[in-house]
Amino acid sequence: MIIAIDGPAASGKSTTAKIVAEKLGFTYLDTGAMYRCVTLAMINAGIHVSNTKQINDLLENISIDLLDKNGKLQIMMNNLDVSDDIRSGKVTENVSAVSALKNVREAMVKMQRNIASKTNCVMEGRDIGTVVFPNAEYKFYLSADSVVRAERRQRDLLALGDEKSIQELIEDINRRDEYDSSREISPLKKAEDAIDINTTDLTIDGQVSKIIEIVNKQKTK
Ligand code: DC
Repeated sequence: MIIAIDGPAASGKSTTAKIVAEKLGFTYLDTGAMYRCVTLAMINAGIHVSNTKQINDLLENISIDLLDKNGKLQIMMNNLDVSDDIRSGKVTENVSAVSALKNVREAMVKMQRNIASKTNCVMEGRDIGTVVFPNAEYKFYLSADSVVRAERRQRDLLALGDEKSIQELIEDINRRDEYDSSREISPLKKAEDAIDINTTDLTIDGQVSKIIEIVNKQKTK
């Protein structure tokens, strides 16, 4: 079974998806982390987004594993723990351009479908309900006011020791949303049959309960 959770940057998808997965005993799949791994690998190797051949070679050789380490998601790229590195400002600045590339999307979608063929999962991203799993049993679209999203991102970054102003973060979030929603391939958009959840005034517990309630209600039908 697939529970798809899509939505823009910092809408609360990751935290919500992770707890929903824990509560249901499902695997949690953060697809944004996968695009971030490719971006980090390209930065490390000095590969430009226009160099399709080098990107294809990189995609053929990259391994990405999302592990559950004592309840915390550990992101492994080529057997190295990159959980913190993929959240750096440099990766965040470049990830939208990398995730707009056709070859990158094809490779990631293939990995995502492969993982989901083996286990029940809560998968979060931008195109899960529209492209990766259009037939997912449950689809949710999380949205929130951009100031609230910037405040959330500020707290996450502070925990990593990175200080940024709210204004800077609002601009960063708006720029990424614009890029992700207007790209040609698999743009960020709500699937017609997804349930919209505005998280502006919701706590994490509130978001989680809403989703679990809907899943349980439909399961018993
Ligand atoms: O959720 P996030 O901020 O970690 O995602 C990083 C970027 O990856 C985001 O700007 C768009 C891209 N992405 C995507 O294109 N498709 C997905 N399914 C998930 C993320």
